[in-house]
Formats: sequence, C-alpha cells, structure tokens
Amino acid sequence: MGRLLLPALALAFLSGGPAQAADAPPNGPPGASSCTGCHAPMKVTDSVIPRIAGRKSADIVTAMREYRSDAWPSSVMGRIAKGFDDQQTEAIAAWFAVQPE
Ligand code: HEC
Repeated sequence: MGRLLLPALALAFLSGGPAQAADAPPNGPPGASSCTGCHAPMKVTDSVIPRIAGRKSADIVTAMREYRSDAWPSSVMGRIAKGFDDQQTEAIAAWFAVQPE
C-alpha cells in the first residue's frame, strides 16, 4: 500500500503543475475556495453535503465530469461543474485528495 500511495501522491502534485506544490496558497489552487464553502475541508458532522476531502483525486474528477455532462443528476453540482475545465478540475481534485479527511 505504502509503495503505491507515495508515487500516486507525487503524480497528483505533478499533474497540478510545479507552481502548485511550491506556492500553493492555503486555500488551494484557483477555484478550490469556491468548493470549500460547501465541502468544508475539515470535519463537519452536521452537513448533508458529501465530504470530498481525502477522496482519490481521480474519483473527484470523474464525478465532476459526470455532473458537467449531466450524466449524474444533481441539485447544484451540475451547474458548478460546468464552470471548470478539465485542468482546473484536476488541480482542485489533487488538492482535495491531500486534505485531511
Ligand atoms: C452550493 C454548494 C456546493 C458547492 C459550492 C460545491 N458543491 Fe460539490 N456537492 C454539493 C452537493 C449538494 C452535492 C450532492 C450532489 C448534488 O445534489 O448536487 C455535491 C457533490 C459533490 C461531489 C460528489 C461527492 C459524492 O460523494 O457523491 C463531488 C466530487 C463534488 N461535489 C465536488 C465539488 C467541487 C470540486 C466543487 C468546487 C469546484 C464543489 N463540489 C462545489 C454542494 C456543493
């Protein structure tokens, strides 16, 4: 497990571009702060909104694509996902994946 996880994390960082690992602001890459208002990165127990911190970035990217194409019915995510292209979504997903669950 440990052997697989480290390269995967390194890849997640690399795919976000070099600026992300070095100068990532505490609020994450551009766009991430528009997610955290609803998907708080810290543990919120009294929320109906699914928590995505600590999820695999590939899973977040897949969900966002499905929402964007309306393949997955949603209340708000379809509209939100349409505001982000693949590159932005991947950077945001990589950031969420390394936030504490
Ligand atoms: C207005 C509040 C709100 C904002 C802002 C928001 N989300 Fe969501 N998110 C939701 C809700 C509510 C759901 C459940 C699906 C639905 O009804 O749209 C959800 C579901 C998800 C899911 C699926 C989780 C699961 O377990 O099914 C992912 C992934 C996700 N959001 C990612 C994001 C990302 C990335 C952003 C920022 C670009 C974002 N969300 C911004 C409210 C929000």
